[in-house]
Amino acid sequence: MSSPRRCWVEVDGRALRRNFKILRGLIPRTTQIMAVVKANAYGHGLVTMAQEFEAIGTDWLGVANVAEGVALRKAGVTLPILLLSVTLPEEMEDAIRHKLTLTLSSYDEAETLDRIARVMKRKVEVHFKIDTGMGRLGCWHLKAKEELIRIRSLPGLLVKGLYTHFASADDNAELTRKQWRSVAPFFAKNADLLCHAANSPAVTRRYGFHADLVRLGLSLYGIAPNPADQGIGLQPVLTWKSRVTLLHDVSRGRTVSYGATYRVPSTQRHAVVAMGYGDGYFRLHSNASHMLVRGIRCPIRGRVTMDQIILDVTKVPGCRVGDEVVALGIQRGEKIQTRELALQAHTIPWEILTNIGARVPRFYKNFRSV
Ligand SMILES: Cc1ncc(COP(=O)(O)O)c(C=O)c1O
Repeated sequence: MSSPRRCWVEVDGRALRRNFKILRGLIPRTTQIMAVVKANAYGHGLVTMAQEFEAIGTDWLGVANVAEGVALRKAGVTLPILLLSVTLPEEMEDAIRHKLTLTLSSYDEAETLDRIARVMKRKVEVHFKIDTGMGRLGCWHLKAKEELIRIRSLPGLLVKGLYTHFASADDNAELTRKQWRSVAPFFAKNADLLCHAANSPAVTRRYGFHADLVRLGLSLYGIAPNPADQGIGLQPVLTWKSRVTLLHDVSRGRTVSYGATYRVPSTQRHAVVAMGYGDGYFRLHSNASHMLVRGIRCPIRGRVTMDQIILDVTKVPGCRVGDEVVALGIQRGEKIQTRELALQAHTIPWEILTNIGARVPRFYKNFRSV
């Protein structure tokens, strides 16, 4: 017998396909799409999401590190995979063996990789990254031309791509345009390479900086990076659910949860929900956020604990033990959005999703690959 669901995530393949189609429509036909599946596919589940992206016609996958890339290869994923972070020298052999494309920022990294590739008698494909203002990876754009020439001279490497990353495409058009101006001539001079720059906000904000490929994460998962882009029609792919496990009436003056931070002003009906910060629900949501029960928004009372949250269900007629609770998503037309949770926890939608923990099982519906 499978264990009953206490705290789980449901992932909807239909919403995913819809988002893919909408985003496809925002870019030229010839521009390829890389689905960014790092960090457990933004909490949606690495392997299943990658397989689905492969099934629906994605051109590339982007991961953070060799371990994620190897997990995909072992699951049979054959799409090209770009490692978006730095690859440590100790990881390079594995990366080459599993046909992962590496990101290089410097000749020093390239030399190490070249040495390892030659020992293995292999040619390794790489994308050279150019820093135009992100200040993280990449070779500073003013020095990139010479660095690329040196890297291209290494016999074990095949430079196949060239890219940059926008620092603030969601809310700083001036900086984004400046970054683009720094890299566009370089792209034009290297037309034989796969050139890319745009992430989700660069596409949904419609800058037009599509080049040969766009690298999409958040938008594919159905969240508009900027609230002004909600009209595009993206649909969240993930719903985060739990259950009412216990109900009780709490009289005026009593306090609730650790730290006794909430005092009941008049008799309330409280539900204990099987979810906590151990599942990735932020403790910052204590006394701040809502969850849905029978389509009604219910406030969280007191502190979020590791495994349990206390919800005020006074306004929910007929609430019962076993009722489904929605922490993120839609229930009977009422919704809790990722952005709402992010604002309350002083963070961004990306972190809300990637924080959903490993102990939360993911269930997939309307998937082609499952
Ligand atoms: C290099 C790179 N490209 C693309 C993305 C995808 O960004 P987004 O989720 O905004 O689409 C990321 C995500 O952090 C990234 O690091």
